[in-house]
Amino acid sequence: MNVVDPARVEAVDPARMRRAMGHFTTGVAIVTASIGGQAHGMTVNSLTSVALDPPLLLVCLTAGARTTTAVEASGRFAISILSNRQERLAARFARRGAEHFEGLPLAYGELGTPVVPDALAQLECAVENPVPAGDHLVVIGRVLRAEFREGEPLGFFGGRFCTVTDRPGSPPDWFC
Ligand SMILES: Cc1cc2nc3c(=O)[nH]c(=O)nc-3n(C[C@H](O)[C@H](O)[C@H](O)COP(=O)(O)O)c2cc1C
Repeated sequence: MNVVDPARVEAVDPARMRRAMGHFTTGVAIVTASIGGQAHGMTVNSLTSVALDPPLLLVCLTAGARTTTAVEASGRFAISILSNRQERLAARFARRGAEHFEGLPLAYGELGTPVVPDALAQLECAVENPVPAGDHLVVIGRVLRAEFREGEPLGFFGGRFCTVTDRPGSPPDWFC
């Protein structure tokens, strides 16, 4: 088999990377943090559960974005997992440079982090381990509080928001 030398392979450009990864269907969440009494937030789909014991998750945040700076400086952040009724909020918090919270009622979790009301789940976290990775910062957070409710999730596929349909029935017995 002909193996290509990685050093001689042309780099995958950002647009191609985005299109390829767009085939991976995800949910949609908003990361929030506050600094100096100012709340910041951004839409993310890089959210991943990392460990159950201790409870850890990660998000990849654009280096230097306002929310990223607030997360790093405060050491605290919240994740609000959006329902399919919150698409407009997802679009609003994805607009670069916009005042995302302007005109929105602010809500705070028990630990004082700003959260998105009526989200399917709200997880308040302490920053455990920020790792620079290219133009992003991988932020591992220790989950200090986790609330959730019933509802339909908002999905993201192929660069668009989508509906995730459920299959009726109980979870398979291998899922424990
Ligand atoms: C569905 C979706 C998922 C996104 N996921 C991420 C993400 O995981 N990390 C990230 O840094 N930006 C992500 N973005 C882009 C940010 O939401 C956007 O750049 C945000 O407005 C940055 O905030 P700023 O104005 O403070 O720079 C995503 C956007 C969309 C629409």
